[in-house]
Amino acid sequence: MARRRQLYEGKAKILFEGPEPGTLVQYFKDDATAFNAKKKGTITGKGVLNNRISEYLMMRLTEIGIPTHFIRRLNMREQLIREVEIIPLEVVVRNVAAGSLAQRLGIPEGQRLPRSIIEYYFKNDELNDPMVAEEHITCFGWASTHDLDDMIALTLRINDFLTGLLLGVGITLVDFKLEFGRLWENEEMRIVLADEISPDNCRLWDAKTGEKMDKDRFRRDLGKVEEGYQEVARRLGILPEAGVRDMKGPEAIQ
Ligand code: TMP
Repeated sequence: MARRRQLYEGKAKILFEGPEPGTLVQYFKDDATAFNAKKKGTITGKGVLNNRISEYLMMRLTEIGIPTHFIRRLNMREQLIREVEIIPLEVVVRNVAAGSLAQRLGIPEGQRLPRSIIEYYFKNDELNDPMVAEEHITCFGWASTHDLDDMIALTLRINDFLTGLLLGVGITLVDFKLEFGRLWENEEMRIVLADEISPDNCRLWDAKTGEKMDKDRFRRDLGKVEEGYQEVARRLGILPEAGVRDMKGPEAIQ
């Protein structure tokens, strides 16, 4: 089979032309970067795990009616997705103070927030993804107020659902980052969830011990990085090494 044409290479994924118009193939690399690529490394097996974890979470979100770009997983490192026009925003949801919020506002990491917070960052590596307000987003036309309403409604539902799903397997969803895209179908535009949901763009802590199981292990040189990602997949019952026949559902934790 002829090699697929590469359309875009990002820090953690590559996009190839898909088999049919309106589709793309999303390839998950083992490359890891942090602090706008100032720190670079490889997390062996990360691509395989993120492909599986993101597939699983996107499928579960589809079941509750969240529209996503995900169509199906093709193999260990690739998934078929719908081609969307990416909205140039990173939508961050926070349930517990950590990372840049803790640092910027001097709030102790680990402090539960009285209510979930949504923040927006403008996706622009040259500018270091600056935080922006709704006013900037609508003023510069990155998204309309209607798009924002849709994104906020989807984000809050995704947060509620994933918080419960992960708590069921003993994981606290501290914060995470989403990206959305525009999908046109018969002249109608819909906002759909795009990108990926994986330990690369979530903070996931063991609900009892607070142990980190996400990319902070890489960002902060905590060691056992692969093990963190594997543990998330294991708890969700989707560790690829378990073999397809042995794949269980999520393991309930008391
Ligand atoms: P932050 O605390 O560094 O702002 O990160 C908040 C969340 O967003 C965290 O779960 C990690 C995720 N994130 C990304 O996915 N990409 C990024 O470039 C950054 C800075 C954070």
